[in-house]
Amino acid sequence: MPSLPKTLTAAMADTVEQVEAAIDVLLPKADLMEARLFDAMRYGCLGGGKRLRPFLVMESARMFGVAPACALRTAAAVEFIHCYSLIHDDLPAMDDSPLRRGRKTVHLQFDEATAILAGDALLTAAFEVLADPETHEDPQVRCRLVAALSRAAGARGMVGGQMLDLIAESTPFDIGAITRLQRMKTGDIIAFSAAAGAILGKASPAHLHALQAYAHDLGLAFQIADDLLDVEGTEDETGKAVGRDVAAGKATFVSILGVDRAKAQARRLADQAAGHLDIFGSRADMLKEVARFVVERRS
Ligand code: IPE
Ligand code: IPE
Ligand code: MG
Ligand code: MG
Ligand code: MG
Repeated sequence: MPSLPKTLTAAMADTVEQVEAAIDVLLPKADLMEARLFDAMRYGCLGGGKRLRPFLVMESARMFGVAPACALRTAAAVEFIHCYSLIHDDLPAMDDSPLRRGRKTVHLQFDEATAILAGDALLTAAFEVLADPETHEDPQVRCRLVAALSRAAGARGMVGGQMLDLIAESTPFDIGAITRLQRMKTGDIIAFSAAAGAILGKASPAHLHALQAYAHDLGLAFQIADDLLDVEGTEDETGKAVGRDVAAGKATFVSILGVDRAKAQARRLADQAAGHLDIFGSRADMLKEVARFVVERRS
């Protein structure tokens, strides 16, 4: 009898375990004088997090028959970028957050300078992993991964979005400007994650575009859910301090639309995201489930 498809929860739990193990192997732990840096990198990356971006990499890679070991290295690289972005996002100069993934933030556990350096080192480590032949035998595929991730993480993607997010504390943003901010800050790394499997599997442009369209709507829905959790969630559920966006006077979808309309918008985007995957048939069922998970999550 064929085995039943795994539920999303079980599949995500598998990814959490695999990514944890891969990160443990990839990050340095030598007992050198600079070991404090390695400890801070490991503290910021291991032991927590939903690992949503790695899951998107693993699932999209599975759809194109990519070897899980290759996909796992790409998944770890994206998680390095994500963890670096969280370490820097929590710094006093940015969101000044004391709690992350249910533990003290890296700058409080270590110190600010170490947190900055740990973030820098994780950012660099991501590209070291992607450029390594173990990630993919074809150098063109490795180059495409490096180009796409650096675009998504840099000034025209996540870092640019973080700049806009700070500007949104003191400047009125309309819905169009907020949408652009969120797409850059959160959506672009999520879009890379979903596209990574298509890049690794040398998928057709039509399949790559379908995944990118899915992930753009998913990323926006994900960030609206994050903004809602900041208003409606608890510290216990989210593992991070809540109420920070209102306290900082940040413009978000919730501050502009209100809770109910923001929820409706997140649901609409999640449905729209799933619709982009219809061309894959049942192969994409798990990614469709992810769209539902993203707006229903409590953490
Ligand atoms: C939090 O991301 C930061 C945002 C981009 C909204 P996640 O909600 O994916 O955080 P972890 O990785 O599960 O801790
Ligand atoms: C952070 O967004 C997005 C990043 C690029 C790190 P938030 O500031 O809303 O994330 P949380 O709420 O601190 O996780
Ligand atoms: Mg922030
Ligand atoms: Mg923050
Ligand atoms: Mg937030």
